[in-house]
Amino acid sequence: MVPDDLMSVLLVFRTDEGRPLTEFEINNSLMNLLLAGNETTTSLLTNLVWRLLEDPSRWAAVRDDRSLVGPAIEESLRFDSPVLGMFRTSLREVTLSGTTIPQKTKIQANYAAANRDPVVFTDPDEFRLDRPKEELRRHIAFGKGPHVCPGAQLSRLEADIALNALLDNFPTLRIDGPGERILPFNFWGRQRLPVAW
Ligand code: HEM
Repeated sequence: MVPDDLMSVLLVFRTDEGRPLTEFEINNSLMNLLLAGNETTTSLLTNLVWRLLEDPSRWAAVRDDRSLVGPAIEESLRFDSPVLGMFRTSLREVTLSGTTIPQKTKIQANYAAANRDPVVFTDPDEFRLDRPKEELRRHIAFGKGPHVCPGAQLSRLEADIALNALLDNFPTLRIDGPGERILPFNFWGRQRLPVAW
């Protein structure tokens, strides 16, 4: 019988060479999943609420027209990418936009910078609820390529449920003092976001 929970799958899994995963690999995968799926979504929620409350007319607009919840979540992911960047090692020499990166060089793929690229986004430094759909879809807050985030849809769903619950229960929510950012340099979210209602 094939198990349908992740822990058991990791235990019975066999690699291409036919060996089971080591304890280190199993621990690492679980740790990865816990960290990747926890802090990131918390940051999405705090960033989203922060930007909507920063300009109270945004909060009111989304509260009164729930079709804006989805666009607000995507614009938050673009404007305040919870994962600012990830490291990669070049497998071979590559030239990108006139810069040559030698083989085996550590580079940071900076999603946050790409998400404010003026060639891709109009008024990239503005948080806009009316950003056209085709632009919204172009952010890369979840990465790109073979390692693109497998939790993207889950975090969008969590944000949708949480924001709707806040709008329903705290329609007059407002910022109540300065907040502060989380510490890890390559993550971006609110450690504190004082609010009142
Ligand atoms: C707003 C929330 C989230 C953001 C912004 C985010 C962002 C990212 C980014 C940028 C990557 C790296 C992609 C790459 O290397 O190209 C990634 C990978 C990953 N994410 Fe997320 N993530 C979020 C939520 C989640 C959730 C909810 C889960 C799981 C429940 C999750 C699990 C993972 C895992 C396991 C990886 C590694 C994938 C791989 O290396 O193949 N993430 N995520």
